[in-house]
Amino acid sequence: MRILAHKFSLCAKRMLVLFTIVLLRMQKIAIFGSGTGTNAENIIKYFEEIDSIRVAVVLSNKKDAGIHDRARNLDIPSFTFSCTTFREGRVILDKLAEYHVDFIVLAGFLQLISPVIIDAYRDRIINIHPALLPKFGGKGMYGSYVHEAVVAAKETETGITIHYVNERYDEGVIIFQATCPVLPGDTADDVATKVHALEYKYFPQVIENMVNGKFGTIGAMQSKVII
Ligand code: GRF
Repeated sequence: MRILAHKFSLCAKRMLVLFTIVLLRMQKIAIFGSGTGTNAENIIKYFEEIDSIRVAVVLSNKKDAGIHDRARNLDIPSFTFSCTTFREGRVILDKLAEYHVDFIVLAGFLQLISPVIIDAYRDRIINIHPALLPKFGGKGMYGSYVHEAVVAAKETETGITIHYVNERYDEGVIIFQATCPVLPGDTADDVATKVHALEYKYFPQVIENMVNGKFGTIGAMQSKVII
């Protein structure tokens, strides 16, 4: 009986060591968002199935944003900080350190990122934009405004752009684009539906590739993918 108990405790210890190693090796992502958080939810669920990567925390500048409810329902801690705190950056860095965050993903985050955060996470922050940059980007170009502008300009094609983040809106190095047609008669809502489908399909995969170092550093960037 005593031998059995000894074996059991040895086995439990090994499991604990293994579990700790896996936890330490795990790459942690923070998602920043200001909106409903459908992409955040999709990303959190995607990485629940992948052992080495987890969404560790969600940060927002809006306390009543839907992203908090989605995070809570999936047991991910989420926090609200004022726009000033985001702009200043240091308190945000402390929160990211508390959760051992390695990478930052912007999913519908409407503020410029502080240079302090960009410096600390160089090559490790990406954003998704719901159009084919450099078209339809820049300050004020977000959500339905983008799709309305695409329809008004009679574009025959739109899509998503995933890019590294720098100090200016929508100007970081592009790493991925995927396209969809804009048909005659499509409304902004129709376009939004198609673009969202592309976001849900590709954004988690691109994040996984970034975390796994598939894109290299910005200086060595050669891997823009267009689908
Ligand atoms: C997405 O369309 C994303 O491309 C843009 O903001 C929207 C966020 O939507 N940057 P949600 O909050 O993920 O539902």
